[in-house]
Amino acid sequence: MPTLNFTLNGSSTSVEYQEGMHFLEILRDELGITSPKDGCAPQGVCGCCSIVVNGKAVLACKRSPEQMQGSTVVTLEGIPADHRTALAEAFERDGAVQCGFCIPGIVARASVLLSRGEPVDRDTATRAITGNLCRCTGYTRIIDAIQTACELNAGNGQLADVTPRKMNFFGEDFGLVRQSSATPGGIGDVAPKYRGFEHALGEKDYVGDITLPGMLHGAVVLSEHARARIVAIDTTTASSARGVERIFGASDVPGELFVGLIKRDWPLFVEPGQTTRCVGDVLALVVADTQFNARAAAELVKIEYEVFQPVVDPEAALLPGAPLVHDSGNLLDRCGYSRGDVAAALLESTHVIEATYTTQRVEHGFMEPEACLVVPTDGKVQVYSQGQGVHDDQKQIAEILGLPQESVMVELVTNGGAFGGKEDLCIQGHTALAAFLMKRPVRIVITRDQSIRMHPKRHPIKLKYTVGADSEGRLTAVKADIIGDTGAYASVGMKVLERAAGHCCGPYRVPNVQVEARTVYTNNPPCGAMRGFGANQASFAIEGIMDTLAERVGVDGYDIRERNILGPGDRFATGQVMTESCGIRQTLEAVRDVYKGATHAGIGCGIKNTGIGNGMADTGRVLIKVVADAKLEIVTGYTEMGQGLHTILRQVVAEETGLPVESMDVVTDSSPEVLCGMTTASRATSLCTVAGQTAARKLAEDLRSKTLEDLNGSTYLGEFICDVTTKPGEKTDQPRTHMTFGYATQVVILDDKGRIDRVVAAHDVGRAINPLMCAGQIEGSVHMGLGYALSEDLPCTDGMPDSTDMKDLGILRARDTPQVDVILIEVPDELGGYGSKGVGEIGLVPTAGAVAGALRSFDGRERFVLPMTDAPAAKGMVPKSRRPG
Ligand code: FES
Repeated sequence: MPTLNFTLNGSSTSVEYQEGMHFLEILRDELGITSPKDGCAPQGVCGCCSIVVNGKAVLACKRSPEQMQGSTVVTLEGIPADHRTALAEAFERDGAVQCGFCIPGIVARASVLLSRGEPVDRDTATRAITGNLCRCTGYTRIIDAIQTACELNAGNGQLADVTPRKMNFFGEDFGLVRQSSATPGGIGDVAPKYRGFEHALGEKDYVGDITLPGMLHGAVVLSEHARARIVAIDTTTASSARGVERIFGASDVPGELFVGLIKRDWPLFVEPGQTTRCVGDVLALVVADTQFNARAAAELVKIEYEVFQPVVDPEAALLPGAPLVHDSGNLLDRCGYSRGDVAAALLESTHVIEATYTTQRVEHGFMEPEACLVVPTDGKVQVYSQGQGVHDDQKQIAEILGLPQESVMVELVTNGGAFGGKEDLCIQGHTALAAFLMKRPVRIVITRDQSIRMHPKRHPIKLKYTVGADSEGRLTAVKADIIGDTGAYASVGMKVLERAAGHCCGPYRVPNVQVEARTVYTNNPPCGAMRGFGANQASFAIEGIMDTLAERVGVDGYDIRERNILGPGDRFATGQVMTESCGIRQTLEAVRDVYKGATHAGIGCGIKNTGIGNGMADTGRVLIKVVADAKLEIVTGYTEMGQGLHTILRQVVAEETGLPVESMDVVTDSSPEVLCGMTTASRATSLCTVAGQTAARKLAEDLRSKTLEDLNGSTYLGEFICDVTTKPGEKTDQPRTHMTFGYATQVVILDDKGRIDRVVAAHDVGRAINPLMCAGQIEGSVHMGLGYALSEDLPCTDGMPDSTDMKDLGILRARDTPQVDVILIEVPDELGGYGSKGVGEIGLVPTAGAVAGALRSFDGRERFVLPMTDAPAAKGMVPKSRRPG
């Protein structure tokens, strides 16, 4: 094997490598340097693998070993200790770390700036990281942190000497006053991210960073055709390839072949004789001694197909004679709501607006591709996961392996972003199968190309509306016909469309409602959960209609919304009566002046349910264990995926017990005591803070008479079950489809060239448990919402994405991100912990509608299709491959 000689972090290094390896593989797999992360290798788009070579920041995955001969390489492991501290403290303190996966690459780039020994301005910091993607933060606080670190380094001062740049969360700039007060370290405090310091330096392991003695590696073989009968799978050549230990297929599965969160319709493998349903279908799993060898051998598996014309149009899929994606039929689900007499109300309406809106398929673009590590012991398996639901993973893996559930333990390692895209089982089942049958630890990390083909996307939805209003623009009726392409597998698609139907009126008072939503199978990539979960699509439609109505009535976007906005006592589209906790009006009023004072601005109001609801119980559980050395271990079944759940659980326990957060560790695992559902629907904060409060109060009670040392080994369980919601269509005068809601009004302001200059986002969050993280969630959501509005798309041809290159997804870069001003408003919720409502999803619900309104105010054009790539605001954001002619 060839040898690479270079200097790594100050030491002369010689390493043998296999032909075809890129430098990131050599660093991570041969040398165990894991601070550079693999987000998309070898695409060279995400920037997670940034390192410093001969004094310049470069992407390790784009360098061949030949290019690296004799070079001097510095990774985060090797930068000077004072620079490491300055960077990590700044990123932790300034709220720049959410899931953390992108951060080491960004910190590596920032270290080059730091070495100049002088402060940097925002433009310089922005330019420095424009080669790096972050899907969580919206970049603003990352740029803050780079400036803080450079300032720290230049002045050799302490962190406390550098004033944080953006800590005005409660609308202070808009003349508003914070309603609540904070307990230091507790509720309402700006506590730094738990383990933010380690994340910043790349020291907090993700699944793909973990290696164990004797560990094997897997690589999956995916279908090249969305609809094809598998005639034969020939593994002869692959079996004899270097390092290959075994190749698995459907016949190896001892238990259930089909998985699925709601409907078990998704096969772990498609076997010969069966027909594929999408290009993410797994046909075989190759297990070898190294990841490189496993992936190389997977390329050698030969598949013989009989290719059929795929079903790609959901409306055509419902026509008689359309090929069936599943034997049960192409209509996965139909749901709807009806109140009042829509036909009569429309007849009596002064204004009747008819419009059809179309939204696109969107890839989550989380920075960490799916990975799983499974360790078998004595007929059981320990699963190290990055998924969104340890208990759902546990249940499905147990079924695949034919084991009792208690023989499968799932622990969350670290989640490098999810946004709904890691709810379904991806390769956890395949990894567990291989480890269980081979009695060896097995790890699978899939590539970016495979990730995009395999996990469910945001639904493309077509929404046909007829809306009535009286002469003053007060809504009288909404009729909506909604159809969503859920792709090859159910995932949670029917629930997404249920949510789109339920949110069809937005946060507006409508006395007559008739809505039907259909969820349709096709051979496109599956669609499922993604931040906003159907509400975004409905919001784009209803906000467009509100702007049209404003024009017809002759008022502005603010006034038309003000006339129709929901208040306590009004009914949501599903019939649920809003309570005093409904704070949408407060968000609207907070942005009145900024909207009315702008030359070209759009405004959008949003509502998003918190909790699954719709008749399903929501459960949050937290277990506090007192462990050795007067420490606490806080255990929950909900996932920390960058939103800050682990941080706020420490704040809850600190609030109730007065103990320092430094004495607390937080773990997510599938212990039966902390049985929780998926970390979805913005509910983890609302539910877990109630459960944590209950558990912590029990501990606080014991601490009145005992010390933590006395209590060593004691455990305290808290749970909160919200079972008050009703099913859609249930016969009742007082339906309560959801536990609660988050509310927002956003204003998008354009400059004189039609580009987005500023976004003001006012959100009623109930209670900001951690204002820094709360604002960070909104900033990141707005960033995602701007991409949704202008540039993001995943077009497919015959069921295959036209591109699986991250550069073609249209994710906004730092240079594309405008100023985002967040206003947190706290109208307490009756059920959520400390009054909280959850903020994870609402952040981008109104964004696309507000962008459309802003564009309309600029050029007078109504827009009905997302993304709005023709807009001047989209210039430079839309990938070259998708730019309008
Ligand atoms: Fe940047 Fe999650 S913190 S991708």
